[in-house]
Amino acid sequence: MDAALRSLLDWYAEMGVDVPKVPDARAARKKRTVTPAATAPAADKAPEPSQKPAADLSKVKTLDALQAAMNNFDAGALTDGARQAVFARGNPDAKLMVIGEAPGREEDIQGKPFVGPTGQLLDRMLGAIGLGEEDYYVTNVINWRMPQNRNPKPDDIELCRPFIEKHIALVQPKILLLVGGISMTALTDLTGIMKNHGQWQDVKITDQSYRALPLYHPAFLLRRPELKKEAWRDLLSLREALLSL
Ligand code: URA
Repeated sequence: MDAALRSLLDWYAEMGVDVPKVPDARAARKKRTVTPAATAPAADKAPEPSQKPAADLSKVKTLDALQAAMNNFDAGALTDGARQAVFARGNPDAKLMVIGEAPGREEDIQGKPFVGPTGQLLDRMLGAIGLGEEDYYVTNVINWRMPQNRNPKPDDIELCRPFIEKHIALVQPKILLLVGGISMTALTDLTGIMKNHGQWQDVKITDQSYRALPLYHPAFLLRRPELKKEAWRDLLSLREALLSL
């Protein structure tokens, strides 16, 4: 059996096809602007939000220069709990750019996004629609592991916004996959991943429009496996869009 088929079957086995769909009402009742980071604990002991001026990336013209600018950027309290900036992995020439939320422990250690257990699930989800690592490029909206692994706040996202916008503008992907509510909210005006996942969006960055698909975060799916069936439908929609390019 080839790897793609095996991956597909694994995913099918996990996605709970027989599990009835869980209604979205619980999420709809939550009045939050930004959905919680999948791996983060409650933010009761979170330090003060970031108060640094935004990065000036106007002279950055390449991915290497962007990475250097990120490494040299003083993000203040945002970097308090981080070993290093987490930039990207995968193929920058791929049509698909995957944008997650914030690095976790393993990503902080390795300096690459989605390399821990959540990343392994992400790779398997994409593998299930026939995508290998060379078919996508992965980064995050937040570039440092959050202090005490707390949830990103809007001003953390604003502090990192120049990096993700420049990143997208340099990579010029055909499709953005917005993984999780924080990524979706950061790049669209939408809130609520439960009601917006699978709905294609147009994301405008410096006068250019990108097709974007919000997807459940794999860490969320690990906690809510019954939602894998919906995620699978979204992945099929992604596959169709990629095939039609
Ligand atoms: N979750 C994310 O959103 N990004 C990572 O890099 C790891 C886990």
